[in-house]
Amino acid sequence: MSSKLNVGIIGAGRIGRLHAEQLAFRIPQANIVAISDVILEAARRCAADFGIPFAVQDHRAIMNNPNIEAVIICSSTDTHAQMIEEAAAEGKHIFCEKPIALDLNRIHQALKAVEKAGVKLQVGFNRRFDANYARVRQAVEQGEIGEPHLLHIISRDPAPPPIEYIRVSGGIFLDMTIHDFDMARFLIGSEVEEIYAAGGVMVDPAIGEAGDIDTALITLRFENGVIGTIDNSRQAVYGYDQRVEVFGSKGSISTGNNYPNTALVRGGQTIHRDLPLNFFIERYADSYIAEKQAFLDSIQLDITPPVTGRDGLIPVVMGYAARKSYEENRPVKLSEIYP
Ligand SMILES: NC(=O)c1ccc[n+]([C@@H]2O[C@H](COP(=O)([O-])OP(=O)(O)OC[C@H]3O[C@@H](n4cnc5c(N)ncnc54)[C@H](O)[C@@H]3O)[C@@H](O)[C@H]2O)c1
Repeated sequence: MSSKLNVGIIGAGRIGRLHAEQLAFRIPQANIVAISDVILEAARRCAADFGIPFAVQDHRAIMNNPNIEAVIICSSTDTHAQMIEEAAAEGKHIFCEKPIALDLNRIHQALKAVEKAGVKLQVGFNRRFDANYARVRQAVEQGEIGEPHLLHIISRDPAPPPIEYIRVSGGIFLDMTIHDFDMARFLIGSEVEEIYAAGGVMVDPAIGEAGDIDTALITLRFENGVIGTIDNSRQAVYGYDQRVEVFGSKGSISTGNNYPNTALVRGGQTIHRDLPLNFFIERYADSYIAEKQAFLDSIQLDITPPVTGRDGLIPVVMGYAARKSYEENRPVKLSEIYP
């Protein structure tokens, strides 16, 4: 693709800065016209760091700019649905960070606005674009391991976020497991129909006092008969632990963690290596580039983006099913949450 697409970025926080940097320096297809943040200083710093011509406080300056063809929504979760609706009304294509919203009706409204406007919407489930997971999906899709029977996802963070973040996060299932729910659907290529979640507070009692849990084991029953597990912890002392295995009738495929190097230190007693890449910004850096390239391709080639609005909705439904299952200590069908 030779022609560039003019984009505007909304939100210059942690993920907004990452997207801005990659769009500026790693994705020749994109031309960033402007960035907005309610904290003007954050937008200005981002603009200065990544050569963006305009920094504004009010996102409407981006929505109203007729030269901007696509918006990258990286603001706080509670603003996403409104931003999607405003962008759709202006006929702009939309890349929106996950989740679209925590309220299912709100997600519906936003998706309706997108449908009505006929613009593209891609939701930021970046892990699908990671080379390890893409290879697992390929093996399942092409029957390399026969009929899939079992899925195991291990997804553990290196350390919990601050308690203030936990309090407004929507809980572990909607904040953290949401990526794993997307991964489960993506890898197996089937919807989950029932979820059973067990959980506990094992890392930090303050997380329990904030009304959340920090450790969970979730069982998934897929419509195609596959059974899966997701194993979450807010704290793996050895770093970001991101592994999957799919076991099938003709074999299995598994992926391990990514490391900063391949060095092995061999001694008289043990052989050891450095810890895995520490967290998502490092571990999934390439996937964030690939997801944005795919979004821009979908606009330029006029094809459906690889992560749709429905892909944004279903993991939120799964999050609510997991929470209900944990609270009521019973398997919960997704149809109980989203008929
Ligand atoms: N896909 C991923 O791996 C991933 C990783 C991190 C965060 N996220 C998602 O990205 C979003 C942002 O997360 P973050 O960690 O960057 O948070 P953050 O708090 O670091 O950044 C959010 C920024 O949005 C700004 N903001 C809030 N309201 C705004 C508005 N109306 N207009 C413009 N800017 C506004 C804030 O001032 C802040 O600078 C969240 O929805 C989060 O779930 C996704």
